[in-house]
Amino acid sequence: MNPPTERILNDTIVAEIKAYFPRYPTRQAVTLPALHVVNRHLRYVPLAAVVEIAALLELHPADVQDTLSFYGFFKQDAPHGETRAWVCRSIACALRGGEEVLEHLCHKAGIAPGQTTPDGKLTIEVAECLGACEFAPCLLAGDIVHKDLTIEQADVFLSQL
Ligand code: FES
Repeated sequence: MNPPTERILNDTIVAEIKAYFPRYPTRQAVTLPALHVVNRHLRYVPLAAVVEIAALLELHPADVQDTLSFYGFFKQDAPHGETRAWVCRSIACALRGGEEVLEHLCHKAGIAPGQTTPDGKLTIEVAECLGACEFAPCLLAGDIVHKDLTIEQADVFLSQL
């Protein structure tokens, strides 16, 4: 007999996913909310979690993986940093120095876009328009849009992590 394998979704995560069941017409419709719940808790959605989500939603793991892989948002190999900074690279931000801000942040943090610092504090990502073009260039970290960024403000952002 195989030894029991350790679950990756703890009781809290499972309960949060199940809380969505009454709000959607099918279990399949809970796929995206479930991925977000897992990502919020684990900061990534490894394959083992995909399998457990699929079991909860009575789906094939491939169905869940299909949804996950459609979005660039979910990481599968390792958790993203405690702070995930989305630096806008769309036209308004690019024209107002967004690329320089991105380069500076990456240089100071010692990582490339998409990577996480070795201490796990920061992941820098590139984003398409954040819907705050009038404040270009900007980045989104958590729920906060950092507006009208300069190199100096980017340094302040890093120092506050
Ligand atoms: S182009 Fe950067 S927020 Fe719109």
